[in-house]
Amino acid sequence: MSRLIVVSNRVNPPTGKGDESVGGLAMALAAALREYSGIWFGWSGKTTTEFTGQLNMQKADGVTVATVDLEEGDYQEYYNGYANKTLWPLFHYRVDLTAYDRSFGEGYDRVNRRFAQTLLPLIEPDDIIWVHDYHLIPMARELRRLGVTNRIGFFLHIPWPAHQLVVTLPRHRPLVEALFHYDLVGFQTEESVQAFEGYVFNEVGGERTEDGRLTAFGQVTRAAAFPIGIDAEDFARIKESPRATRVYDRLMAHSVFRKMVVGVDRLDYSKGLEERLIGFERFLHDNPQARREVMLLQIAPISRDEVEAYQDLRGRLDGLIGRINGAYADMDYNPIRYLNRSYRRDELAGVYRASKAALVTPLRDGMNLVAKEYVASQTPYDPGVLILSRFAGAARQMKEALIINPNSPEEISDALTRALNMDIDERRRRFESLMDNVTRQDVTAWRDDFVAQLREPTPTPALTR
Ligand code: UDP
Ligand code: G6P
Repeated sequence: MSRLIVVSNRVNPPTGKGDESVGGLAMALAAALREYSGIWFGWSGKTTTEFTGQLNMQKADGVTVATVDLEEGDYQEYYNGYANKTLWPLFHYRVDLTAYDRSFGEGYDRVNRRFAQTLLPLIEPDDIIWVHDYHLIPMARELRRLGVTNRIGFFLHIPWPAHQLVVTLPRHRPLVEALFHYDLVGFQTEESVQAFEGYVFNEVGGERTEDGRLTAFGQVTRAAAFPIGIDAEDFARIKESPRATRVYDRLMAHSVFRKMVVGVDRLDYSKGLEERLIGFERFLHDNPQARREVMLLQIAPISRDEVEAYQDLRGRLDGLIGRINGAYADMDYNPIRYLNRSYRRDELAGVYRASKAALVTPLRDGMNLVAKEYVASQTPYDPGVLILSRFAGAARQMKEALIINPNSPEEISDALTRALNMDIDERRRRFESLMDNVTRQDVTAWRDDFVAQLREPTPTPALTR
């Protein structure tokens, strides 16, 4: 069987110590690679004054992890710049936060070129290569330029935005053209696939071939939705672990007369954290009897803190939480417990289980794995309730959650009231349906489906019209 080479900016070697990086991509890929004796290639997380292309190789859990340091200027222009000041905000519909700086685009192309050159010696003729996320869209183009003819697939973990948004990006054509160097392009949802096709058909006159592929720029690719999942089996195991149980017991001991609601997100403006807090404030305002009884535990590890929009958000959240706690706290009660640090997955499992409801309120999100982890951590006889934004990719699958529009504080407040008063039969019914989905569409199904489709041979295209 051919080897799988996974390429992503963020690499998360399983250390067994639980200090892995936070973020859906790293979590999913660590799980996806567990049964493959493949290679995981990407950034080491370190910077140097000059790019050397020196590979750091490490073997972890049967996977060879190969990383490379980034030059300081590349880190600024490629990672902080094009990836996180241009593509991330634009693809999450935040045109107001999107920076268009020519040097960012140059840095982006340069790093993709350097990554391709560094990876090249590791590639064997039979390998299949799977590239991940918005940092590395041009990777296949750069590998093809170096003569690589292996099958190469791409998966976008974040939303693909509407045609009208993509065209606000200077040099949007070469970016989309770069995707046509892949044999298969995967998105989280059908909505993203349609948005991508909308661009291809309407902006560059692309067409669909008879077998459902897309042709444009003189190239052919295939685009499809592959909704990502969690490692449900592993979650079932860790939620029973001693550490998860310890966290659960500790939280329960402290909340005998209180109901805990949980939020877990990187500190990111796409997550709707301000909207969530304003919704919670509305809930406290509308439900005087809930004051002293209901508290929100918000875990929000700092993310991308060299980017101004993230620093600004952090400042606003500090102010908002101070205001709400100032207004509603009592000598022995704080409505919001706010933690800017990250927790291990087994600890999170204990936190999720101790929470009567979860607030997952992104304004845009490719999928949102926290929603799935929350469900996977519940006990079937007394499950909590998931409140989920309609703008998370997960809402397409998790229809038995309480689906809300995060822009409405009233909807958030009403959903909280409903969740905290929901009878046991309804909670169980909803949980069973959600759990069924989380278990069946898990990370293994996602990986196997993508890899199987990537392996399929490509016939010569015939056009439908
Ligand atoms: N996460 C974690 N520790 C934390 C906070 C988050 O391990 O303190 C993990 C969380 O369990 C989930 C991932 O980070 O697996 C976040 O993925 P999600 O898809 O929800 O959002 P992303 O961060 O990828 O935008
Ligand atoms: C999201 C992105 C990932 C990224 C993660 C954490 O999940 O889709 O590509 O790795 O956020 O962000 P960071 O910038 O720390 O890698």
